[in-house]
Amino acid sequence: MLPKDQWYVAGWSEQLGPSGLVARRFLNEPVVLFRTAQGVLHAVEDRCSHRAMPLSAGEVVGDAIRCPYHGIEFDGRGTCLRIPSQDRIPPTAGIRSYPVVEQDDIIWIWMGDPALADPTAMPRHPWHRDPAWSSYYDYYHAECHWQLLMDNVFDLSHLAYIHPRTIGGDPAAHFGAQMETRLTEKGVMVDRRLPNCEPPVTYVAAKGFKGRIDRWQEIEFDPPVIRIWSGGCDVGTGAYEGKRDHGFSLLGLHAFTPETDRTSHYFWTMSTNILDPELAARIFHQTKVTIGEDIPVVKMQQQRIDDDPSRRLIDIASDAGGVQARRVIAALAEAEAKRAQSRAV
Ligand code: FES
Ligand SMILES: [Fe+2]
Repeated sequence: MLPKDQWYVAGWSEQLGPSGLVARRFLNEPVVLFRTAQGVLHAVEDRCSHRAMPLSAGEVVGDAIRCPYHGIEFDGRGTCLRIPSQDRIPPTAGIRSYPVVEQDDIIWIWMGDPALADPTAMPRHPWHRDPAWSSYYDYYHAECHWQLLMDNVFDLSHLAYIHPRTIGGDPAAHFGAQMETRLTEKGVMVDRRLPNCEPPVTYVAAKGFKGRIDRWQEIEFDPPVIRIWSGGCDVGTGAYEGKRDHGFSLLGLHAFTPETDRTSHYFWTMSTNILDPELAARIFHQTKVTIGEDIPVVKMQQQRIDDDPSRRLIDIASDAGGVQARRVIAALAEAEAKRAQSRAV
């Protein structure tokens, strides 16, 4: 079961300018996000109450979204404001709206019970706006259940096989990585260390490493997002003692928002301490290529799983973080089911 009572990433602020709109399905529900001419963001169901026309095919007019079929207008709360062909507005003309919050250049949406939507409860990601980092925002559509994407980022032993041309680097270093998994207040943290290894292609291009490096990969599940801190410093120069400013740092934000039970939105950003715009652009391009390499993999997995969903999958040692993350999600879903049950009694 999918937890509904939590904030999900619905997009990046930069993607939606004044009077803009975007149609996206979240947790099986069609939603249209729109921004008023004054810049206020809203999310309502993408279905007109009159004849079910998708409102996303219409346009934003001032504070309202207008259906393209017969011109009915709705505000950001889903209230029907105007029916051009008559004065009377039937009491059932309204549509559903969803709480949205914009913070750290991220658009958050709450698909569950609106009464539970605490507008301060989502994870923060201040690095997007930190001048010590440059950031890039992007998106992939993935034809798989979102938990396959979670597994993908938690089990980084796939880097050596799927990403040898970019961030993979030295396969032996990946298999010999020192790994520690622990539970955090809300989620899971996986610390992976790859000491004294050959720098991957991306790292050499970014920082010009001449010799071997100490690498780190720290995967942090802060529901519902995952941050991957990674990078490298020349061997023995402080990578594992918190002295990393002189090295190469990457911070990836990976947000998997379920679209349907079998498809997902993969919102991602990449931030780096490399501020030179040309160099940073190359890093972002390589990240795009890297994540793009995962998209066909998860699709193929999903196809095989769908052949017989009852078959079990085995876990290996490098899945430790992913397995913990699944438990965290299961606990969230269970707590939500209990709440629903106690309301029903
Ligand atoms: S279907 Fe929207 S106005 Fe008729
Ligand atoms: Fe990958």
